[in-house]
Amino acid sequence: MQLPWRLSPCLYIELAELVGKRLGTPVEYVWWLSFNQRRALRTTMEGCDAYFALPADAQYRVKGLVKSNAFLSVSYAIVAPHDVKVGALSDLKGKKIGVLHGSPPQILLATKEGYTASTFRSQEEVFDALNKKEIDAALLWGPSAGFDNKTLYSNRWQVISITGESLGGQVAVAVSKEKPQLKDQINQALEELKPEIQQLSEKYGFPMQAPLQVNSKNAEARYARLDTLQAKTAAYRSSGFIKVADRPSRREWLVAESGDTIAEAKSNFNNKCSHCHGTNGASPVSERDLRKLSMRYKDDWKNVAYSTITKGRPDLGMPTWGGILPDEEIKAIVEFLVTVQKN
Ligand code: HEC
Repeated sequence: MQLPWRLSPCLYIELAELVGKRLGTPVEYVWWLSFNQRRALRTTMEGCDAYFALPADAQYRVKGLVKSNAFLSVSYAIVAPHDVKVGALSDLKGKKIGVLHGSPPQILLATKEGYTASTFRSQEEVFDALNKKEIDAALLWGPSAGFDNKTLYSNRWQVISITGESLGGQVAVAVSKEKPQLKDQINQALEELKPEIQQLSEKYGFPMQAPLQVNSKNAEARYARLDTLQAKTAAYRSSGFIKVADRPSRREWLVAESGDTIAEAKSNFNNKCSHCHGTNGASPVSERDLRKLSMRYKDDWKNVAYSTITKGRPDLGMPTWGGILPDEEIKAIVEFLVTVQKN
């Protein structure tokens, strides 16, 4: 079996192979490079029997799919030199901490006092900065940081899982709703494969010890409640499909994509902005009512909205979102706001 080198090796592929063996079926793969797992699933699962792997939690639902039992816990992790004592997140106070741009840990640190975050574009850059001692520790996705730590850096760092809102969870296999039997078979295979799953976790350097609980339940944690989908999409990007038919055409894909953008921006807005601006921007407080933007700023309103969201008005209580949310997400939110203007 030939795999794109960047995606190989992968725990989920090996597991899919093991499950396939138990079920007596050969495994074929469909790959999809996606930054939105749910969207990829909607357009691709039609041709597939199963998807390895996606969040097991009940709120993460994809139409037409049912999920197997959870088989593995995955989460963000603290990466630090072995001589740094890490018993709690607070042990990182006063240290320079590397995070990926737009990741849940970046938002987590931004909402807590006493932490200094440096943002990076890739995990590789974070490890590079750790090596050069430009940062003291990092918060990275546990499975991928653990894997690189083991395979590229001879376990030079300790990698300790953290749990808390938006920081991780369990994963499961998704199966088409129309194939309940397959779900049962996969559940049984996963149950029987428990020792192998444990071995694979060790082989791939996944953090194994009990995770540290990170308390994000203060009032400010509302900011940290990043759309869990977004957080998890980043996490599960490299997963395999077991395939029986062809994937949809590029055209169908694009149609699905543009139709989704506004709906997604609306849900992002309602996750991140509505506690100050009301559901869909309909705040009873006039200066926060985002349905009045076009009345207030006339033709220029989209520019005003974009720059206000990006730069914030910190003195007036509007946070700065540039550097926290990806630029395309901000632009999509502005497009969503178009749909709620009063005139
Ligand atoms: C902590 C509360 C808070 C959050 C969260 C928040 N805002 Fe605001 N926002 C405000 C306040 C307060 C103002 C009004 C500032 C003023 O009086 O000029 C404002 C103003 C704005 C304005 C300009 C309104 C105008 O008419 O001038 C826009 C656009 C906006 N916010 C968009 C957003 C978006 C999009 C999000 C989410 C990504 C968001 N805000 C999240 C508090 C918040």
